[in-house]
Amino acid sequence: MKVLPVLLIQMLTCCSAEKHNLSGKMFTFPEESDTAHVVLSPDQSKSLTAVTMCLRFFSDLVRAQSLFSFATPESSNAFLLYKQANGVYEVDQNDKFVLFRALGENPNQWNSVCVTWNSENGIAQVWVNGKYSARKGINKGKEISGAPSIVLGQEQDTYGGKFDKAQSFVGMVTDIHMWDSVLPSSEILLYMSRIPQKIGGNVINWESLDFTLKEYVILEDQ
Ligand SMILES: *[C@@H]1O[C@H](CO)[C@@H](O)[C@H](O)[C@H]1NC(C)=O
Repeated sequence: MKVLPVLLIQMLTCCSAEKHNLSGKMFTFPEESDTAHVVLSPDQSKSLTAVTMCLRFFSDLVRAQSLFSFATPESSNAFLLYKQANGVYEVDQNDKFVLFRALGENPNQWNSVCVTWNSENGIAQVWVNGKYSARKGINKGKEISGAPSIVLGQEQDTYGGKFDKAQSFVGMVTDIHMWDSVLPSSEILLYMSRIPQKIGGNVINWESLDFTLKEYVILEDQ
């Protein structure tokens, strides 16, 4: 029995990349703050020339809020999904941004959101609850490179920090996935219908997630 604590300490210190299957769970951000956040460690940190990121959120906030903040040492807004107002989504790519409007989501319900972007033609698109936006161009030919710092619950104004309470998320988030490609519409619609994906994200996978809770965030059953 005396060996156990030693083993435990070794387990905690040796392998930071522990994966958790969070199926059926959610992150709850219970109050407005400039501290509460979740750090996600991606499965790969190679340069990205295409992206799909999907998540579900539940909130009653009417002010602007950050949904997904991906920074690199070069750009604090390397890839950001920011809800400016009801139905208005801002997508940032390497510090440029484009707005997608009229994508109304529902307060106090789970809303499914996906955003896609690819470098080849610069086209970005946002999907909300099965409805898709106009396709708009941003940073054609650019890529997302450098070690990612991925944060939920706050918006990074510097690499890994400088949070602003007025941009924080309050509510619940679940089912986050990120792929290094643009998923076909059929796959995005499966996600929106909550039909389990055949293939989870290969950059971030909710069913195999390496994450760290910081300050007042709770992991609980949905
Ligand atoms: C995660 O857990 C769910 C529910 O138990 C299961 O259906 C799913 O196959 C698991 N995913 C992985 C990648 O193991």
